[in-house]
Amino acid sequence: MEAAFWHQVWKDRNIGFHQQQVYAVLTENIHYLGLKQGDRVFVPLCGKTKDIAWLLGQGYRVVAAELHEAAVIELFEELGVEPEIEQLAKLKRYHFEHIDVYVGDIFDLTKDQIGVVDAIYDRAALIALPESMRRDYATLLNQLSDAAPQLLVIYEYDQSLMAGPPFSVGADEIGALYGQSHSTKKLASPKLIKDFKDGVDGHEAIWVLTSR
Ligand SMILES: C[S@@+](CC[C@H](N)C(=O)[O-])C[C@H]1O[C@@H](n2cnc3c(N)ncnc32)[C@H](O)[C@@H]1O
Repeated sequence: MEAAFWHQVWKDRNIGFHQQQVYAVLTENIHYLGLKQGDRVFVPLCGKTKDIAWLLGQGYRVVAAELHEAAVIELFEELGVEPEIEQLAKLKRYHFEHIDVYVGDIFDLTKDQIGVVDAIYDRAALIALPESMRRDYATLLNQLSDAAPQLLVIYEYDQSLMAGPPFSVGADEIGALYGQSHSTKKLASPKLIKDFKDGVDGHEAIWVLTSR
């Protein structure tokens, strides 16, 4: 999607994707990532997710990326901390202790800037992007993280019933995007979510991608 689309989503507060609670899928499945205290988790397209506060509270470091600066300001307000803000070439970096959030287009983020990534938590990020961008996005994530392990939360539904985002991403596409770099495993059976958008039912699918 165009940047303008997402800026408008935030301006209109059309943020049904934002969860008021920490996402249970994260807390119940993070063990698959094999992290230890102090490891650094990348949260791409992070919005102002409460999952970041939870990750920090568990003793992990967090690096994240988000296009819409007001969302990042709210994220830090909700964390109750005052970040240092640094203007980089095309991005801004919001930093406090164990968290760095890069503000701007994730495709402008470089490996030098992001630093160490031990794992990736992608909730509603891959599926926020149209098919034409998903290949580049997956390649970017692998470049930035040296194909780190990943907990990936996506939706599957009949794409003909609704235009995304969120877009429907199935097992074939996960295999095509990450099958070479990771061994891919879909956890349990996907959970049905009734009327998850515009009257369309969807299934939430949780994937664990383990570095090869
Ligand atoms: C569906 S939301 C998901 C947010 C978050 N992962 C969550 O679970 O609440 C997608 C987010 O990606 C951001 N976004 C979209 N395109 C982006 C890009 N090219 N670079 C950085 N962020 C982007 C949007 O502003 C939006 O906050």
